Amino acid sequence: MKLKFLNAALIVSGLIAAVPAVQAAPQVEVLHYWTSGGEAKSIAELKKMMEAKGVVWKDFAVAGGAGENATTALKARVIAGSPPTAAQIKGPSIQEWGAEGVLANIDAAATEGKWDTLLQPVVSNVMKYKGHYVAVPVNVHRVNWLWINPEVLSKAGAKVPTNFAEFFDAADKIKKAGLIAVAHGGQPWQDTTVFESVVLGVGGAKFYDKALVKLDPASLTSPTMIKSFETLAKIKTYIDKDSAGRDWNLATAMVINGKAGMQFMGDWAKGEFTAAGKVAGKDFLCVPAPDTEKSFTFNIDSLAMFKVKNPEEQKAQLTLATAVMSPEFQEVFNLNKGSIPVRAGISRAKFDSCATRSMDDFAASGKAGALEPSLAHGMAVDSAKAGAIQDVIAKFMNSTMTPQAAVDALAKAAKTK
Ligand code: BGC
Repeated sequence: MKLKFLNAALIVSGLIAAVPAVQAAPQVEVLHYWTSGGEAKSIAELKKMMEAKGVVWKDFAVAGGAGENATTALKARVIAGSPPTAAQIKGPSIQEWGAEGVLANIDAAATEGKWDTLLQPVVSNVMKYKGHYVAVPVNVHRVNWLWINPEVLSKAGAKVPTNFAEFFDAADKIKKAGLIAVAHGGQPWQDTTVFESVVLGVGGAKFYDKALVKLDPASLTSPTMIKSFETLAKIKTYIDKDSAGRDWNLATAMVINGKAGMQFMGDWAKGEFTAAGKVAGKDFLCVPAPDTEKSFTFNIDSLAMFKVKNPEEQKAQLTLATAVMSPEFQEVFNLNKGSIPVRAGISRAKFDSCATRSMDDFAASGKAGALEPSLAHGMAVDSAKAGAIQDVIAKFMNSTMTPQAAVDALAKAAKTK
């Protein structure tokens, strides 16, 4: 069994105990972790759409950025034999859950909706387990962004950075102006989000791929990786002392309110700016993280479907999958979420400059071989390795660990089974 946490005996006994009662109206229970301002507005659109189709929406929201707490809650429910209808699961983890035999085949929705023609293979392959769709993709998030408050920059006399030299110059000026240069929340996944953008900037897409996707031991301990940790250590000096445990959206709020100048974060951060009524290119800027202009680290949200007993719920599950892939949902959700549609055929008209740039860069980096899966967001490696690597980065961020010690620990973590 791949997911060590699932105990077969418990599942069997749980399933027997959890035969569902006959329901009056079809219902879907959806586990997600979209609880910040922008995220909640986004998921509310799906709820609205399902209710319009006569399906009762049971919200199973578990707060905690990047789903750290949601995964724990999901495991408990599956072990108890009462999985939700759908859960936000991404990347290689879909295969891990598939191997447990708990995911539902939703080919019926995919065939009817022609998903194979609307999705790129890099996306559809991840949504399938053994050739059958078990998950529906929601969006494409770009991770290697830097979010900027232009007013802070101009107060400090700094200019928008495109590379690390300019970034540190801007950071120095913001600090001198008495403001916080880098808004950050000290949580392992946020630390790793910054780290992966730094590796991408310092080493480029090919290096990123060798080191953080293929986990090549020589790359993990190379001078380029040492330099990445040195750069990360320098970034640390621009983060305020109260960052420990801070949620990502509170860090974004610091940029929105002009307390801080910049934040490394994926474009779910844009959802916070949008929810606060801020306009891209005017009230806030999105630029690729330093030295990463030509690359794109992607993070694709998806809802994996669980095997459920009730035929009404099974039908509602397919309705849910179809709704997620519909043009209406793809547009309205992504406008709120900060991401871009995952499927072909959606008009760009309503999307802002950050989103259209993301669309262009997604296509261009795909052609140039610079489209890379995000490590911090569960796209690059299996969950055991990702967890071990994340622990190393968090330790580096929270101690005086040297870059040499960090690369050695990283190489060791990459071997986690
Ligand atoms: C998810 C986003 C989410 C973010 C913060 C990422 O891993 O892909 O949908 O908004 O974490 O929770």
